[in-house]
Amino acid sequence: MVINWYPGHMAKTRRLILENIKIVDVVVELVDARIPYSSRNPDVDEMTASRPKVMVLNKCDMADPAATEAWVAYYKSRGKTAVAVDAISGKGLGQFKAAVDLVMRDKYQKDAEKGMKKRPPKLMIVGIPNVGKSAFINKLAGRAGAKAEDKPGVTRTKQWIRVSGGFELLDTPGILWPRFDDEKTGLHLAFTGAIRDEVYDIVEAGCLLCAFFAQNHPELLQTRYKLDDLAGKQGHEILAEIGKRRGCLVSGGEVDTGRAARILFDEFRGCKLGKITLEMP
Ligand code: G4P
Repeated sequence: MVINWYPGHMAKTRRLILENIKIVDVVVELVDARIPYSSRNPDVDEMTASRPKVMVLNKCDMADPAATEAWVAYYKSRGKTAVAVDAISGKGLGQFKAAVDLVMRDKYQKDAEKGMKKRPPKLMIVGIPNVGKSAFINKLAGRAGAKAEDKPGVTRTKQWIRVSGGFELLDTPGILWPRFDDEKTGLHLAFTGAIRDEVYDIVEAGCLLCAFFAQNHPELLQTRYKLDDLAGKQGHEILAEIGKRRGCLVSGGEVDTGRAARILFDEFRGCKLGKITLEMP
């Protein structure tokens, strides 16, 4: 499937992140818990290597909890600190704060040895579009009565949000470009709505999502759309069946597969088919 996507802002973002990294203590990298691999920027480690990092598996309310646990364990096994968060309800924010404390421990200790007072760590949030950066910032900030303030002496152009008793957030997150190094990653971004529907063929993507379900969770599609056994059926046949069930017909009785695909995507993204993680570590 061809995705017509041009990463025009890559150089600018890279420059902004490299500039900002000097004034933050911790990088907070958000990924989508349903697609932790595909929603990770391929260059983020290299760009942010000079700072400790906390990985946030956001939208964990939409992902399979067992799969999210497996991802957290996987990151841990690779020496990374990761927490699962739902930025809408605020679930996981307590664990997030503890994780920031953990990655700051060495710095706090060094500061104390130098006789410096403990000060709130400065965080920069980074992630691809739609991963929930704004929601996460708002939730963290709203929670503790945030106050945006200018901090002359640090930088005049940047806004810091002080989360009382916690830390300071750079309120302009680093918007990273997604990974497009193989077809599967592009598809996963399309399935979850991380890239706009206009940049790929929605019918083709719909057929591929049907094929994914037929292989991994056939019972969920069958129950939702009252379909017969899916064994041996191709994605396009399943999509046509879904269209028929939902009355997506055009004159002559043919199925409007575009409409059927849009219904399928809306319901998949709205978790009507269940909490589904598309990829495992
Ligand atoms: P961004 O800054 O990284 O681009 O993402 P943003 O916060 O705008 O979030 C993108 C969409 O994802 C928003 O939905 C937001 O509500 C939703 N979202 C963010 N975090 C979570 C989460 O942890 N769980 C769930 N279920 N949803 C999350 P939207 O439909 O684009 O807008 P709206 O629903 O806020 O109107």
